[in-house]
Amino acid sequence: MKSIDIGDKIRCSYIESLQMNHALSREARVDLHPGEGMKVNGESFFVLGGELRNSTAGFAEKMQSLWRNAADFGLNTIILPVCWEDIEPEEGKYDFSLITSHIESARKHGLRLIVLWFASWKNATSSYAPEWVKRDLVRFPRLQIKQGVSANAVSCFSKNALDADSRAFAALMKRISEIDSCARTVIMAQVENEVGILGARRDYSPLADAQFNSPVPDALLRHLQEHEETLHPQIARSVSRIVNGRELAWKDIFAEDADEIFMAWHFASYLEKVASAGKKENNIPIYANAWLPNPGRDKAGQYPSGGPVPKVLDVWRAAAPSIDFYSPDIYRKDFRTVCEEYASNANPLFVPEAKWDNGASSTALYLAGHQQSIGFSPFAIDDILHTEHPLSTVYKFLAAMDKKLADAKRKGEICSFYQQDEDEKLVLKLGDFSAIVRTKKIQDGGSIPSAGIIIAEGNCEFTVAAINATIEFSSSPGFESNIEFISADELSFEDGEEKILGRLNGDETYHGKTLIFDSKPRIIRVKLNENSFPLMHQSGWEFPG
Ligand code: DGJ
Repeated sequence: MKSIDIGDKIRCSYIESLQMNHALSREARVDLHPGEGMKVNGESFFVLGGELRNSTAGFAEKMQSLWRNAADFGLNTIILPVCWEDIEPEEGKYDFSLITSHIESARKHGLRLIVLWFASWKNATSSYAPEWVKRDLVRFPRLQIKQGVSANAVSCFSKNALDADSRAFAALMKRISEIDSCARTVIMAQVENEVGILGARRDYSPLADAQFNSPVPDALLRHLQEHEETLHPQIARSVSRIVNGRELAWKDIFAEDADEIFMAWHFASYLEKVASAGKKENNIPIYANAWLPNPGRDKAGQYPSGGPVPKVLDVWRAAAPSIDFYSPDIYRKDFRTVCEEYASNANPLFVPEAKWDNGASSTALYLAGHQQSIGFSPFAIDDILHTEHPLSTVYKFLAAMDKKLADAKRKGEICSFYQQDEDEKLVLKLGDFSAIVRTKKIQDGGSIPSAGIIIAEGNCEFTVAAINATIEFSSSPGFESNIEFISADELSFEDGEEKILGRLNGDETYHGKTLIFDSKPRIIRVKLNENSFPLMHQSGWEFPG
């Protein structure tokens, strides 16, 4: 390890043998620009990611070939766990060799990393806590799903657990900063994983009971009153029960939602302290992820009660200002609906976990064109890195047009679509036009949701990148495809440069009125004839946000 001076005050140690694929800079930073995306060292960066299976990062041999395969696949970021039990097997003695070597390998292959801090909780249990935490039930008490019945999860009311977890996360972030603040290989950190209590709506330990019967903290009530306009409806209905100057308990204000909101406040307060301890050492974006309610398992406690699910995000925001955003792990079919819920209130939209099936190509396209999205990453990416998976094609396709996408996001001239129900007809309002999107039935019977990106070019022109869809245009949502094309050209992007491949007409556009996309993504620039419908008014362009 050697230290280099890259500025007046900033020193950055790096690994000597390193082939530095990322530029070194004393300005190295990661910034979130709500509505425009993320910048890494001043450049727009959209995460074309993949999350490793939980145990892969600890297997040296598996990891050896994985880096090259990941880069060849078209990933620009790997999401990997850093486990508390690995870095602090003995209390107060840290071992950062694994993450140091992963940072080195990622850099060699031009990849960025997002680290998952598996510590007090991983999937609502404490299986990643070190042995000295797991064994000491007095110093590190557990959550109780009923009085006297412990969950296999540390209590979020345990000050000892909070202090030990925060110290370890701060030490990790300090280490990352020492070796990486000049390069920002590690661009973000997820604090804990899918927190909350499973098996009960709230913790029934004596520690929790005492808190549950105490007044709701002023800070939460003030936040809810100050943000009344934008609150989730399930929280908003409680605000009228707040009486300023009167101390009220959780049940008095939140009624039947009290248990979950109480747990959300306490989990969020815990994660706030861990996140802020880490941020002091290494200022990169930090997020928390959610295990979502699922059909048939949609009651708090069937999914982790208190985790950052949409209806309690307002509570999390009040308790955890150091957490930059919240992310859904989406294994549900209604992918678009979940994304819209998480994109509200200017929350950067990042999906760190989803299925890697054929539908992943569609979700990747949808998110890449979503005004608020900063990235996508299916779970268990290690399972598909050796195959000709369609996601590899889509990632390379998106990487080639990333400058175009970033520019369109900056100008607010982009929107995207994703068909979450079979045969769903989507109608997108594009200024004076509407785009009508339908599924293109695939011959081989495969099922890939229609998805795509539309960029407004001005002068009735649009650039459309899509898969498995037909798109027609109309002059208002009330009319079916009454707009003819002046022209439709197929394009490609090579190293960011746009190239016209050829003109499409005849059968390839159903005679000048339909854009046709198959299961392989492609890009078409279409020019619409604004005179094809005589009553159309000619007002200026307005693009949906
Ligand atoms: C969600 C978790 O966050 C992941 O770490 C992993 O356990 C998956 N579930 C397994 O499907």
